[in-house]
Amino acid sequence: MKRFLAGCLLAVALPLAAQDTRKEIQKYQQMIADGSPVELFELEGETLWKKPQGPSNVSLEKCDLGLGPGVLKGAYARLPRYFKDADRVMDLETRLLHCMTTLQRRSREDATKRVFGNENQPSEMEYLSAYVSAQSRGMKMAAGNSHAKEKEAFELGKAMFFHRAGGWDMSCASCHGEEGKRIRMQDLPVLSKPEFARPIVATWPAYRVSNSQFKTMQWRINDCYRQMRYPEPKFASDATIALTTYLAVTAAGEPYRGPGTKR
Ligand code: HEC
Repeated sequence: MKRFLAGCLLAVALPLAAQDTRKEIQKYQQMIADGSPVELFELEGETLWKKPQGPSNVSLEKCDLGLGPGVLKGAYARLPRYFKDADRVMDLETRLLHCMTTLQRRSREDATKRVFGNENQPSEMEYLSAYVSAQSRGMKMAAGNSHAKEKEAFELGKAMFFHRAGGWDMSCASCHGEEGKRIRMQDLPVLSKPEFARPIVATWPAYRVSNSQFKTMQWRINDCYRQMRYPEPKFASDATIALTTYLAVTAAGEPYRGPGTKR
């Protein structure tokens, strides 16, 4: 009888506890969003966007992010997409890098020397990502999904999402493939399903309160590969762009609400 009662109690108590935890997490997320310094990153990004740099000593103001040279409004919501001049699908960071090496004529080495910053010194790429993405607020996410190379990137990204490898034989789906999974109080969204992918993709890039840093999607993917014990992906490689394309196309239709604030 005692055991039966304990069993009943457990069955009732667990879902309640889970609900409480979720509510607490939501409260916490609201709290951190209220005091987020995202705007400061946007402002610094604007300064860098307009700053002449590189051998040609020009700014990025004529950078074409897909909607024409210098058009920022809504450009981020349409990325990744195919760019004819590079004959490649590109995400935001890759396109920024492209503009740095073509317009400003900086070497790839120089432009990628420090793509991931730290608490004391965020990177140029992070500031620029904040500035550019902010100008898609309220626009529907609509990554490219019609050009043959866009479709190819989507298919490659999808295959990679489910491909198990590495020391622990893991795929993205090992952690992001089942509802209700959590690591250290973090919900692990099922990113292959639109209803879960949409609110996530629509809030990247993002400021992370836990380490006071602004992070790009290239970083997010890197860090998950690190958790999977894979070798670190190359910055702006076709593989990382394919994964981002897969996530962004899966999240299509969601109004952009970033740059977000995360745990
Ligand atoms: C070992 C488990 C694990 C694997 C495998 C994994 N991730 Fe993650 N992922 C996490 C954790 C934990 C977080 C939340 C981290 C945090 O907020 O501190 C996360 C967060 C994310 C987020 C952001 C979610 C949000 O709330 O904004 C994205 C996007 C993501 N992962 C993509 C991927 C992709 C793509 C892969 C495969 C390349 C992958 N993850 C593989 C553990 C994993």
